[in-house]
Amino acid sequence: MLFAATSRASAQASKANIRYNATTRVFRIDTARTSYIMGVNEADQVQNLYWGHRLPNSDEFATAKSMPGAASFDPPITTTPEEYTGWGGMLYVEPSLKVTFPDGNRDLVLKYVSYKIDGDQLSLLMKDISREVYVTLNYRADGEIGILRRSAEVENRTDGPITIEQVSAATWNLPRGTDYRLRYLTGRWAGEWTIQQQPIHPGKTILESRRGTTGAQNNPWFAIDHEGDNDSERGGVWFGALGWSGSWQISIEQDMLQQVRVNGGPNSFDFAYRVAKGGKFQTPEFYAGYSDEGIGGASRLLHRYEIDSILPGAPKPKLRPVLYNSWEATGFDVNEAGQMALAEKAASIGVERFVMDDGWFGQRKDDRAGLGDWYVNPQKFPNGLKPLIDKVHSLNMDFGLWVEPEMVNPDSDLYRKHPDWILNFPGRPHTEGRNQLVLNLARPDVRAYVFGFLDKLLTDNQIAFLKWDYNRNWSEPGWPAVPLDEQKDVYVDFTRNLYSILSELRAKHPSVEIESCSGGGSRVDLGIMRLTDEVWPSDNTDAYDRLLIQNGFTYAYSPGVMMAWVTDSPSWANQRALSLEYRFLSSMQGSLGIGANLNKWAPEDFATARKMIAQYKTIRETVQRGELYRLIAPEHGSEQSVTESVARDGHEAVVFAFLHSSNELYPYPRLHLRGLDPDTQYRINVLDGRLASDTPEHASGAYWMDRGIDVDLQGDFRAMTFRLERINGNQ
Ligand code: DGJ
Repeated sequence: MLFAATSRASAQASKANIRYNATTRVFRIDTARTSYIMGVNEADQVQNLYWGHRLPNSDEFATAKSMPGAASFDPPITTTPEEYTGWGGMLYVEPSLKVTFPDGNRDLVLKYVSYKIDGDQLSLLMKDISREVYVTLNYRADGEIGILRRSAEVENRTDGPITIEQVSAATWNLPRGTDYRLRYLTGRWAGEWTIQQQPIHPGKTILESRRGTTGAQNNPWFAIDHEGDNDSERGGVWFGALGWSGSWQISIEQDMLQQVRVNGGPNSFDFAYRVAKGGKFQTPEFYAGYSDEGIGGASRLLHRYEIDSILPGAPKPKLRPVLYNSWEATGFDVNEAGQMALAEKAASIGVERFVMDDGWFGQRKDDRAGLGDWYVNPQKFPNGLKPLIDKVHSLNMDFGLWVEPEMVNPDSDLYRKHPDWILNFPGRPHTEGRNQLVLNLARPDVRAYVFGFLDKLLTDNQIAFLKWDYNRNWSEPGWPAVPLDEQKDVYVDFTRNLYSILSELRAKHPSVEIESCSGGGSRVDLGIMRLTDEVWPSDNTDAYDRLLIQNGFTYAYSPGVMMAWVTDSPSWANQRALSLEYRFLSSMQGSLGIGANLNKWAPEDFATARKMIAQYKTIRETVQRGELYRLIAPEHGSEQSVTESVARDGHEAVVFAFLHSSNELYPYPRLHLRGLDPDTQYRINVLDGRLASDTPEHASGAYWMDRGIDVDLQGDFRAMTFRLERINGNQ
């Protein structure tokens, strides 16, 4: 009930309130839910004073006072929770910024200079104690959701270049405490998005990718709460996500005074970025917020922020269409007749977008050749793509195409012509992954080539959607064509060029949508999400495994961008056989796609699919844009998994319930819904499966939340879904 009240309150948009008290030198950023308070202390350091639940305006903060040191070993510069620290003096915790000057000096001590408030943005200017290095800290607050978007800009006004060796987008300081717990996400190919948790002890935990891109092994997201807060819907949670798709690093550090700080930005491993005299370096953005509705509330705030402020088209990103993709059915064996036949079948069940995957270009028969040669394969498509695209349009679907722009096979015309275009160290091996090499997108000629072929593809063909794949990580990350002191710029310039290609393509072809895929979920972060409409969480499409994968994914990212295909049974991943209904219900928790071999379907499969796709279309807005509650998370070997999505305007809730196996005659746990208005009547409506026979046709939100609902699920691998609809007039 608490939840319904909070959701309604949050529906009223509010503006952030940013104030500066010149007497106390205290800055306050207040949002509807949170307060973030900083002060300039006696040493002119910007020090965090509070971050958490919204405080009344009447609470005045005294002038900041730096922390006492701990003997001569840990002086105040190390113990004071600064908003952004240079590596200099006796600083032993993780610095926000470390630079080297041409004269060999590596000492940087940043002090507060001035501030600027511009609407919902606060900028703080800092400067080194003697050298002309300036850092502007930018804070933009979402007044309703309370998420802060932070970044830093380093400006070199000295008379020579400087080299940045470590740089954070932000340093976040938590209130002092000894019982913190960290949650983070780990994974690997076909097993992405595992939620982990561990107590925070003195010392440091590093989450990172050294792979050139985001990676599935860690995702740039964290959440911290107090150990023992085991209700997923209650208790304070500080959470954040980094918007950077290159190598990245987030460190979580508890210092000698039991203070926890979180630093995040490009990975400092093997890192250097040269900023010329007069130049600037803009960091990526690091987003963070606070929820007092537990980890469930933290993920709902992030989902809402992604929809309202991150995704293309925000605050009203387009709903995801139901798509078909034949990758699992045909592999590389695509051709005009085969794709047309599949398109007819896909259209007959209500698919809205037909996507042709890998295999349509160059001499691509398998994964050994063709990447880089982006011409239509004349044997497979003798008349180009037009006949297939026309056919897809005649079936009332739009057309999407797979590309993997940043890669090249050694067996390709592109590589034979431009062997120097790959990341490489001269005289060293060119290590292949999936028989391919990584093009150095930081090079202007490679950037021009990649933009050029994509632009031409989109100009020459009526393509509504690109599935942008990326199937290996970096090796030998050399850039021999530029001077030695610029070669490591590759880590930043590659990613910046990726972003600039995506945004230029979007500007020139505004109706085209893009999916970020990386052999599964290896490039999912808030940086790529600004420029892509959806992401592919995992190549593992086993509908049971997907419950766990999707559960982990939604800690950080919205179900509305989470592509989920219905594929064949038994699944290639585990040889597990699941009913078509179960597979549909698993995929309907996100953005529904079909990836099964429709040529093998029986007439009854088409009938089931037609019915379930039609049902999905009636609930997709709630699933894709609603508020997600994990009623039972499929973690720690749980036999059940239940999600509930509540529409943003509260008019309906959709519940998906899954059973692995029933045991020893135990009934399915009673489901206590969340996020409903206790005083409103809701009608219950089963879409697939059965409820207990004593379930009323309608009841109050209080009844569904407090008394709860019994579902009739028994056996192995069973699933059901139902919907609650608000009865207007409040019967
Ligand atoms: C990896 C992707 O994740 C798959 O969906 C498929 O597109 C293949 N690449 C194609 O090579």
